[in-house]
Amino acid sequence: MVLEYSGIKFDFSGKEKMANVGIIGLGYVGLTSAVGLAKLGHRVVGYDINQIRVDALREGKSPLFENGLEAQLQELSSAGLLSFTSDLNELRESGTEFIFICVATPQDDAGAADLTTVFSVAQEISSFASPDSVIVVKSTVPVGTCQRIEGLLARADLLVASNPEFLREGSALRDFMEPDRIVVGASDPKTTARVMELYAKLQAPRVLTSLESAELTKYAANAYLAMRLSFTNDIAELSAKSGARVDDVLLAMGMDSRIGSSFLRPGPGWGGSCFPKDTLALVSMATDHGVELPLVSAAIASNSQAFARSANTIKRLVGGDLNGKIIGVWGVAFKAHTDDVRDSPAISIIRLLVEQGATVQAFDPEALIPDLPGLVSSESALAAAAGSHVLAVLTEWPEFLLVNPQDVAQAMRTPMVYDGRRMLPDAWRNVFQTFVALGENIN
Ligand code: UGA
Repeated sequence: MVLEYSGIKFDFSGKEKMANVGIIGLGYVGLTSAVGLAKLGHRVVGYDINQIRVDALREGKSPLFENGLEAQLQELSSAGLLSFTSDLNELRESGTEFIFICVATPQDDAGAADLTTVFSVAQEISSFASPDSVIVVKSTVPVGTCQRIEGLLARADLLVASNPEFLREGSALRDFMEPDRIVVGASDPKTTARVMELYAKLQAPRVLTSLESAELTKYAANAYLAMRLSFTNDIAELSAKSGARVDDVLLAMGMDSRIGSSFLRPGPGWGGSCFPKDTLALVSMATDHGVELPLVSAAIASNSQAFARSANTIKRLVGGDLNGKIIGVWGVAFKAHTDDVRDSPAISIIRLLVEQGATVQAFDPEALIPDLPGLVSSESALAAAAGSHVLAVLTEWPEFLLVNPQDVAQAMRTPMVYDGRRMLPDAWRNVFQTFVALGENIN
């Protein structure tokens, strides 16, 4: 593939040069990138400050519940392409030409991205990086951060690039290996091309751009997706109130090629480790630039309303008073195929129920049930439903489809179901006299 950028022609075809790569931070993005880059043939050393995590990785155990990751991790480690360390000296000794920063950028008290770790890592890198190395920022950082890192490094021979990652938990490795696009930004086109060459084996459109554009792309993409989901969930609520069938509305809407059908699945709100913090950080960043983003702010507000709507539906099902009621909950992860409960809509809804006097008994096939007052962990889906007044499905795990509705109805105190993910088949409606799915009104 030959691409022209900034008046220079870059040839990415057949360039499968192996590079020495260091990855700092082995969370979702860092670990998947480490495995993915090793799979592309590069020699990768992953560094994390957390010794327990590093020890587990050295034994071939993935600290993340992620499809296919552990098997690849073992294979690539045995092939000598992937190793892990908690000692930065090993990165120095392995002569890395590319050092990826993949540390977390959590939300600070004001809603902005907390860049403390990113900056302290950048300072450490400047003390050991080999001459002419490229520092590649994969952490999600506000516009201007990479330029600040250039200043912090205080070494004219080190180069900085922004290479945002768009992978989703649950399909992280596949998203890395089959991306919709690869985005790399740098101040100098040759640096942009050097980073892009790391991905020579991947078939995907490439965007070579400036540092600022690459940084903003990540936030813009996440905020757009979050807005789309808030809109979808608001339409689900309007469907409930107006008597429309939300599935038909969204199906027909998505058939418009300008709209498309993905990310139109209504749910009890959006959550996870990215959308909630990134939407807030984008609004905060825009405010710093004197720009209002009313649509993103509205999407955030709409999401809180979505949690409240699910909690209210459950409350109405039990007759308007949650005090002393037992609610069975299926799923606490923020979505299926992950054990991640960070900013999970299910947890927000559970809190609202508990605050109003309910006891919640929850089951999740992978996620640990958090230690919260009023929330009890159940051993199985059936046990979570047993003795409850309402069963609420809050995460769309396919395992729930295998449970027999008759068994559930018999085990419950009052057989009522709230399907917050619209996932249970019609057979359930025949068994339960009271069955309400998100986007439907209580009769
Ligand atoms: C999200 C983005 O999709 C990734 O592109 C991005 O790289 C990642 O954040 C990140 O910034 O690291 P992820 O947080 O793994 O990925 O989760 P999504 O699959 O996007 O789901 C987010 C939330 O939206 C979940 O609560 C999910 O249940 C909800 N959702 C998603 C829906 O309710 N309906 C949909 O149709 C899709």
